Amino acid sequence: MRLIILGAPGAGKGTQAEVLSKKLDIPTISTGEIIRNAIRQGTDLGKEAKQYIDRGLLVPDDVVIEIVKDRLTQDDCKNGFILDGFPRTVPQADALTKMGVTIDKVLSIEVAEEKIVERISGRRQCSKCGATYHIVYKPSKEENICDLCGGELIMRQDDAPETVKNRLKVYHEQTEPLKDYYQSKGLLVVAYGQEEVADTTKEVLKALGVV
Ligand code: AP5
Repeated sequence: MRLIILGAPGAGKGTQAEVLSKKLDIPTISTGEIIRNAIRQGTDLGKEAKQYIDRGLLVPDDVVIEIVKDRLTQDDCKNGFILDGFPRTVPQADALTKMGVTIDKVLSIEVAEEKIVERISGRRQCSKCGATYHIVYKPSKEENICDLCGGELIMRQDDAPETVKNRLKVYHEQTEPLKDYYQSKGLLVVAYGQEEVADTTKEVLKALGVV
Protein backbone atom coordinates (compact mmCIF):
# COMPACT_ATOMS: atom_id res chain seq x y z
CA MET A 1 0.00 0.00 0.00
CA ARG A 2 1.14 3.55 -0.78
CA LEU A 3 -0.39 5.60 1.98
CA ILE A 4 -0.38 9.24 3.07
CA ILE A 5 -1.29 10.11 6.67
CA LEU A 6 -2.70 13.59 7.29
CA GLY A 7 -3.59 15.12 10.65
CA ALA A 8 -2.90 18.02 12.97
CA PRO A 9 0.32 18.17 15.01
CA GLY A 10 0.07 15.58 17.80
CA ALA A 11 -2.93 13.82 16.26
CA GLY A 12 -1.10 10.50 16.43
CA LYS A 13 0.20 10.18 12.86
CA GLY A 14 3.61 8.86 13.92
CA THR A 15 2.10 6.50 16.50
CA GLN A 16 -0.31 4.94 14.00
CA ALA A 17 2.32 4.90 11.23
CA GLU A 18 4.53 2.76 13.48
CA VAL A 19 1.72 0.22 13.99
CA LEU A 20 0.80 0.16 10.29
CA SER A 21 4.41 -0.14 9.20
CA LYS A 22 4.80 -3.34 11.24
CA LYS A 23 1.43 -4.76 10.19
CA LEU A 24 1.85 -4.04 6.47
CA ASP A 25 5.64 -4.54 6.42
CA ILE A 26 6.30 -1.26 4.62
CA PRO A 27 8.54 1.65 5.71
CA THR A 28 7.36 4.92 7.20
CA ILE A 29 8.81 8.06 5.71
CA SER A 30 8.43 10.87 8.24
CA THR A 31 9.72 14.16 6.90
CA GLY A 32 9.66 15.55 10.46
CA GLU A 33 11.94 12.73 11.67
CA ILE A 34 14.29 13.09 8.68
CA ILE A 35 14.59 16.81 9.41
CA ARG A 36 15.09 16.30 13.18
CA ASN A 37 17.82 13.73 12.42
CA ALA A 38 19.55 16.25 10.17
CA ILE A 39 19.34 18.82 12.99
CA ARG A 40 20.82 16.33 15.52
CA GLN A 41 23.67 15.62 13.10
CA GLY A 42 24.27 19.33 12.35
CA THR A 43 24.12 18.89 8.56
CA ASP A 44 23.54 21.83 6.17
CA LEU A 45 19.93 20.69 5.74
CA GLY A 46 19.56 20.56 9.53
CA LYS A 47 20.97 24.07 9.96
CA GLU A 48 18.63 25.49 7.33
CA ALA A 49 15.55 23.60 8.58
CA LYS A 50 16.09 24.48 12.25
CA GLN A 51 15.19 28.14 11.75
CA TYR A 52 11.74 27.10 10.45
CA ILE A 53 10.97 24.10 12.66
CA ASP A 54 11.81 25.98 15.89
CA ARG A 55 9.23 28.65 15.01
CA GLY A 56 6.54 26.14 14.07
CA LEU A 57 6.78 27.07 10.39
CA LEU A 58 7.00 24.74 7.42
CA VAL A 59 10.37 24.07 5.86
CA PRO A 60 10.33 25.40 2.24
CA ASP A 61 8.61 23.12 -0.27
CA ASP A 62 11.64 22.64 -2.54
CA VAL A 63 13.78 21.36 0.36
CA VAL A 64 11.18 18.83 1.55
CA ILE A 65 10.27 17.70 -1.97
CA GLU A 66 13.92 16.82 -2.65
CA ILE A 67 14.13 14.82 0.59
CA VAL A 68 11.06 12.75 -0.33
CA LYS A 69 12.06 12.31 -3.98
CA ASP A 70 15.38 10.89 -2.89
CA ARG A 71 13.90 8.65 -0.16
CA LEU A 72 11.26 7.13 -2.45
CA THR A 73 13.91 5.84 -4.85
CA GLN A 74 15.30 3.54 -2.15
CA ASP A 75 14.70 -0.20 -2.49
CA ASP A 76 12.56 -0.64 0.62
CA CYS A 77 9.81 1.54 -0.92
CA LYS A 78 9.20 -0.84 -3.83
CA ASN A 79 6.28 -2.66 -2.16
CA GLY A 80 4.72 0.43 -0.64
CA PHE A 81 5.32 3.08 2.02
CA ILE A 82 3.64 5.35 4.51
CA LEU A 83 4.18 9.07 4.11
CA ASP A 84 3.84 10.67 7.56
CA GLY A 85 3.83 14.48 7.38
CA PHE A 86 4.21 14.78 3.60
CA PRO A 87 2.65 16.35 1.62
CA ARG A 88 1.76 19.33 3.78
CA THR A 89 0.96 21.89 1.08
CA VAL A 90 -0.77 21.75 -2.30
CA PRO A 91 2.54 22.34 -4.17
CA GLN A 92 4.03 19.34 -2.30
CA ALA A 93 1.03 17.19 -3.30
CA ASP A 94 1.40 18.33 -6.92
CA ALA A 95 5.12 17.50 -6.78
CA LEU A 96 4.33 13.97 -5.64
CA THR A 97 2.06 13.51 -8.67
CA LYS A 98 4.79 14.93 -10.95
CA MET A 99 7.24 12.37 -9.53
CA GLY A 100 4.88 9.73 -10.98
CA VAL A 101 4.00 8.38 -7.53
CA THR A 102 0.55 6.76 -7.35
CA ILE A 103 -1.13 6.90 -3.96
CA ASP A 104 -3.67 4.23 -2.91
CA LYS A 105 -5.19 5.98 0.11
CA VAL A 106 -4.97 9.16 2.14
CA LEU A 107 -5.85 8.71 5.80
CA SER A 108 -6.83 11.73 7.85
CA ILE A 109 -6.67 11.26 11.64
CA GLU A 110 -9.12 13.63 13.33
CA VAL A 111 -8.64 14.68 16.95
CA ALA A 112 -10.14 17.58 18.95
CA GLU A 113 -7.78 20.45 19.71
CA GLU A 114 -7.87 20.06 23.52
CA LYS A 115 -6.66 16.44 23.17
CA ILE A 116 -3.86 17.62 20.91
CA VAL A 117 -2.57 20.05 23.51
CA GLU A 118 -2.66 17.31 26.18
CA ARG A 119 -0.82 14.87 23.93
CA ILE A 120 1.86 17.30 22.85
CA SER A 121 2.53 18.63 26.34
CA GLY A 122 3.11 15.06 27.59
CA ARG A 123 5.17 13.86 24.66
CA ARG A 124 8.80 12.97 25.28
CA GLN A 125 11.32 11.93 22.64
CA CYS A 126 14.61 10.07 22.88
CA SER A 127 17.47 12.48 22.25
CA LYS A 128 19.48 9.65 20.67
CA CYS A 129 17.17 7.43 18.58
CA GLY A 130 14.04 9.61 18.27
CA ALA A 131 11.60 7.06 19.80
CA THR A 132 8.41 8.75 21.04
CA TYR A 133 6.76 8.35 24.47
CA HIS A 134 4.01 10.03 26.47
CA ILE A 135 4.29 10.60 30.21
CA VAL A 136 0.76 9.24 30.79
CA TYR A 137 -0.28 7.27 27.70
CA LYS A 138 3.02 5.64 26.72
CA PRO A 139 5.50 5.99 29.59
CA SER A 140 9.02 4.58 29.38
CA LYS A 141 9.85 1.78 31.85
CA GLU A 142 12.43 3.95 33.61
CA GLU A 143 11.64 7.66 33.99
CA ASN A 144 13.26 9.80 31.28
CA ILE A 145 15.25 6.87 29.84
CA CYS A 146 14.53 5.38 26.41
CA ASP A 147 13.45 1.70 26.56
CA LEU A 148 15.13 1.05 23.21
CA CYS A 149 18.58 2.63 23.48
CA GLY A 150 18.97 4.07 27.00
CA GLY A 151 19.08 7.64 25.65
CA GLU A 152 17.72 10.59 27.62
CA LEU A 153 14.07 11.53 26.97
CA ILE A 154 13.47 15.22 26.29
CA MET A 155 10.68 17.49 25.10
CA ARG A 156 10.79 18.36 21.42
CA GLN A 157 11.88 21.99 20.96
CA ASP A 158 8.83 22.68 18.78
CA ASP A 159 6.48 21.29 21.46
CA ALA A 160 6.69 24.53 23.48
CA PRO A 161 3.12 25.95 23.87
CA GLU A 162 3.70 29.09 21.75
CA THR A 163 5.24 27.05 18.92
CA VAL A 164 2.39 24.52 19.06
CA LYS A 165 -0.07 27.41 18.54
CA ASN A 166 1.81 28.36 15.37
CA ARG A 167 1.97 24.77 14.17
CA LEU A 168 -1.79 24.41 14.54
CA LYS A 169 -2.36 27.67 12.66
CA VAL A 170 -0.06 26.54 9.86
CA TYR A 171 -1.85 23.17 9.77
CA HIS A 172 -5.28 24.77 9.34
CA GLU A 173 -4.07 27.24 6.73
CA GLN A 174 -1.73 25.14 4.62
CA THR A 175 -2.30 21.44 5.24
CA GLU A 176 -6.00 21.02 5.96
CA PRO A 177 -6.94 22.03 2.35
CA LEU A 178 -5.29 18.76 1.29
CA LYS A 179 -8.31 16.91 2.68
CA ASP A 180 -10.50 18.44 -0.07
CA TYR A 181 -7.69 17.97 -2.58
CA TYR A 182 -7.59 14.21 -1.96
CA GLN A 183 -11.34 13.90 -1.37
CA SER A 184 -11.88 15.19 -4.90
CA LYS A 185 -9.56 12.43 -6.16
CA GLY A 186 -11.59 9.80 -4.24
CA LEU A 187 -8.62 8.86 -2.05
CA LEU A 188 -9.53 10.30 1.36
CA VAL A 189 -10.56 8.11 4.30
CA VAL A 190 -11.09 9.40 7.84
CA ALA A 191 -10.40 7.83 11.24
CA TYR A 192 -11.29 9.40 14.59
CA GLY A 193 -8.28 9.36 16.89
CA GLN A 194 -9.81 10.62 20.14
CA GLU A 195 -9.49 7.42 22.14
CA GLU A 196 -6.58 5.29 23.28
CA VAL A 197 -3.90 4.21 20.81
CA ALA A 198 -5.35 0.68 20.37
CA ASP A 199 -8.87 2.04 19.77
CA THR A 200 -7.54 4.50 17.22
CA THR A 201 -5.68 1.67 15.50
CA LYS A 202 -8.99 -0.21 15.14
CA GLU A 203 -10.56 2.89 13.55
CA VAL A 204 -7.58 3.30 11.25
CA LEU A 205 -7.62 -0.32 10.07
CA LYS A 206 -11.37 -0.13 9.49
CA ALA A 207 -11.02 3.10 7.48
CA LEU A 208 -8.25 1.54 5.38
CA GLY A 209 -10.11 -1.74 4.92
CA VAL A 210 -7.17 -3.69 6.38
CA VAL A 211 -8.00 -6.84 8.38
P1 AP5 B 1 6.29 16.49 12.22
O1 AP5 B 1 7.30 15.76 12.99
O2 AP5 B 1 5.65 15.84 11.07
O3 AP5 B 1 5.23 17.04 13.27
P2 AP5 B 1 3.65 17.17 13.24
O4 AP5 B 1 2.95 16.95 11.96
O5 AP5 B 1 3.41 18.47 13.89
O6 AP5 B 1 3.19 15.94 14.03
P3 AP5 B 1 3.76 15.44 15.37
O7 AP5 B 1 5.02 14.66 15.17
O8 AP5 B 1 3.81 16.58 16.36
O9 AP5 B 1 2.58 14.52 15.90
P4 AP5 B 1 1.98 13.14 15.40
O10 AP5 B 1 0.69 13.39 14.72
O11 AP5 B 1 2.97 12.30 14.69
O12 AP5 B 1 1.64 12.54 16.83
P5 AP5 B 1 2.41 11.42 17.70
O13 AP5 B 1 2.13 10.08 17.13
O14 AP5 B 1 3.83 11.81 17.96
O15 AP5 B 1 6.90 17.88 11.68
C1 AP5 B 1 7.60 18.75 12.53
C2 AP5 B 1 8.05 19.97 11.75
O16 AP5 B 1 8.91 19.56 10.66
C3 AP5 B 1 6.96 20.80 11.09
O17 AP5 B 1 6.37 21.72 11.99
C4 AP5 B 1 7.75 21.48 9.96
O18 AP5 B 1 8.51 22.56 10.45
C5 AP5 B 1 8.72 20.38 9.51
N1 AP5 B 1 8.14 19.56 8.44
C6 AP5 B 1 7.86 18.23 8.49
N2 AP5 B 1 7.34 17.81 7.33
C7 AP5 B 1 7.26 18.88 6.53
C8 AP5 B 1 6.77 19.10 5.21
N3 AP5 B 1 6.23 18.09 4.48
N4 AP5 B 1 6.86 20.34 4.70
C9 AP5 B 1 7.39 21.37 5.39
N5 AP5 B 1 7.86 21.24 6.64
C10 AP5 B 1 7.79 20.01 7.22
O19 AP5 B 1 1.56 11.56 19.06
C11 AP5 B 1 1.70 12.70 19.90
C12 AP5 B 1 1.77 12.26 21.37
O20 AP5 B 1 0.52 11.69 21.76
C13 AP5 B 1 2.83 11.18 21.65
O21 AP5 B 1 3.38 11.39 22.92
C14 AP5 B 1 2.03 9.85 21.63
O22 AP5 B 1 2.62 8.87 22.48
C15 AP5 B 1 0.66 10.30 22.15
N6 AP5 B 1 -0.47 9.61 21.51
C16 AP5 B 1 -0.59 9.29 20.19
N7 AP5 B 1 -1.79 8.71 19.96
C17 AP5 B 1 -2.44 8.69 21.18
C18 AP5 B 1 -3.72 8.22 21.60
N8 AP5 B 1 -4.60 7.68 20.74
N9 AP5 B 1 -4.06 8.38 22.91
C19 AP5 B 1 -3.18 8.94 23.78
N10 AP5 B 1 -1.94 9.39 23.44
C20 AP5 B 1 -1.58 9.26 22.15
